[in-house]
Amino acid sequence: MCGIIGCAGRGGETLDTLMHGLSKLEYRGYDSAGVALSNEELSVRRKAGTLDALRSSLSSQTLLDGDDSTVEGDGLHDNPVGIGHTRWSTHGPPTDDNAHPHRDCTGRVAVIHNGIIENYQELRDELAAEGHEFHSDTDTEVVPHLIETALDTGMAPEEAVRSAVSRLEGAYAICAVIAGVDRVFAARNDSPLVLGISEEAYFLASDVPAFREFTDQVVYLDDGEFAVINKNGWRVTDVDGTVVEKSINTIEWDPEETGKSGYDHYMLKEIHEQPRALRQCLQGRVDELGGEVLLDELGALDPDTVQFVACGTSYHAALYGAQLFRSIGIPAQAFIASEYATSVPPIENDLVIGVTQSGETADTLSALREARHRGAKTLAVTNVVGSTAARECDEALYIRAGPEIGVAATKTFASQLITLSLLTLHLNGSEDDRDVIAGLRDLPSNVQAILDDTNAREIAEEYHDSDAYFFIGRGLHHPVALEGALKFKEISYEHAEGFPAGELKHGPLALVTENTPVFAVVTGDGEQARKTIGNVKEVEARDAPVIAVTDGASDVERYADHVLEIPESTPRTAALLANVQLQLVSYHAAALLDRPIDKPRNLAKSVTVE
Ligand code: F6R
Repeated sequence: MCGIIGCAGRGGETLDTLMHGLSKLEYRGYDSAGVALSNEELSVRRKAGTLDALRSSLSSQTLLDGDDSTVEGDGLHDNPVGIGHTRWSTHGPPTDDNAHPHRDCTGRVAVIHNGIIENYQELRDELAAEGHEFHSDTDTEVVPHLIETALDTGMAPEEAVRSAVSRLEGAYAICAVIAGVDRVFAARNDSPLVLGISEEAYFLASDVPAFREFTDQVVYLDDGEFAVINKNGWRVTDVDGTVVEKSINTIEWDPEETGKSGYDHYMLKEIHEQPRALRQCLQGRVDELGGEVLLDELGALDPDTVQFVACGTSYHAALYGAQLFRSIGIPAQAFIASEYATSVPPIENDLVIGVTQSGETADTLSALREARHRGAKTLAVTNVVGSTAARECDEALYIRAGPEIGVAATKTFASQLITLSLLTLHLNGSEDDRDVIAGLRDLPSNVQAILDDTNAREIAEEYHDSDAYFFIGRGLHHPVALEGALKFKEISYEHAEGFPAGELKHGPLALVTENTPVFAVVTGDGEQARKTIGNVKEVEARDAPVIAVTDGASDVERYADHVLEIPESTPRTAALLANVQLQLVSYHAAALLDRPIDKPRNLAKSVTVE
């Protein structure tokens, strides 16, 4: 969804700091952007399009020389406070007028917002009846007008912001500035907001990368909390203004981890980071001599059954996790989170596991809340320490992938699979685990072997102008087929579908032609491989090009036009290795088609609306 940043104490660097922060948050939304600086005067600049459009408008005119936005004054003062926003539209198309910050009638108040204000129409009607004028289609615009109304009654700025926010229903992370007030005000409910503390400056943002360059000290705000920063400090309160004591956390990853490190795209960089991400995930959790996995951060778990809730790529990881749980005798099922609440299955000593990279996906949070409400124990499997899922669930298990900026999930999917694998080993504790554990140990180097020697680009070159692309696999390779197709379609904009291999003949085979390549994941030489080879023959008979992703243990090569090889491994790690080859094919196809790989159209990294 949208990305927001606020800062105080950066002096003449305030605008640059906001723009830098927005560049780190652009993965959250990139259809329009805007900034506001405030001291005795308030100046706002907003532009439809990517951050570059805003950047060029700022370089062609100084912020205060410009448009309708300046209230008074003739230049920036030494130490303004500022707010910035990058938008992913929910109410109204991406236009200059709908871009944030939004202002009140007097132009004194500017507000940025991430989330959805559910009662905005009611508030807008009420404010319009009082004579307020609106200039956008957004739900956000009611907020500066509510603050204006509160200020007009004589309330102090902080109280006015709290009073305005108390009228809102829905999800929001909000930052506001008021001309003549040297503070940034913020509020949070159901949308992420973190506070950053450095020696000289203070920050508010949707996510840590926005200010990581300046500090590793953060405070995670909770729902219902308000924050105020100025150049001298910070304070968190509740809705009544009572100070809330917060603990300060230290971020463990480096600022460089959020750069591209010489790769053309974040996605390619993140694909290449997988060996390291997997090592981080395994570190200190596997006792190879003892043949056991120890997840010390977890309390006692002894579920009768397990339900997974997740969306998109994380749902594919959940499908994989559910199979692993069933393989150790624990009934398990994966649900698409947005569908979970419509027919919640009976819950009795169930563990409900939310798989969510960001920990902020509204659909997943809502399913987890529903599960808790019905008495289930909940566990968040997430990448983001301090995320809402991690804080709201009874237990949290971190996948330790490091920051992922590319909108298409890659390394976090790999780390989710391995974390779920570790979880089942932790709960199972059987002698047979030794082979599996050895497979996990070899995984990072096996991924590296693929990255060092892959023909994925040649395959992409040969087939990137096909009519459609199909991906098939059985068992643990079924989620990989789904994930292969999702990655392909979201970054290449080409039609791609994934199926359980056996399902193809029950309908989708009608779509298969000589111009629809089929990627078949076949590893090992057992029953599943034999059956999938049968399905491969079915598509081969329809003249479809077949690309086998295989460890070479079966004779699938005989029926394939091309092979994407993976090293020999265990069944559960083979799925992950096959996925790396498919990630690379998607990446290269999208690059050949000249797509904006890191920011696919209409998509955002963290989807904080239902
Ligand atoms: C696809 C992708 C999305 C996310 C989904 C859930 O590449 O990234 O499908 O997996 O929006 O996000 P999280 O895992 O943050 O809950």
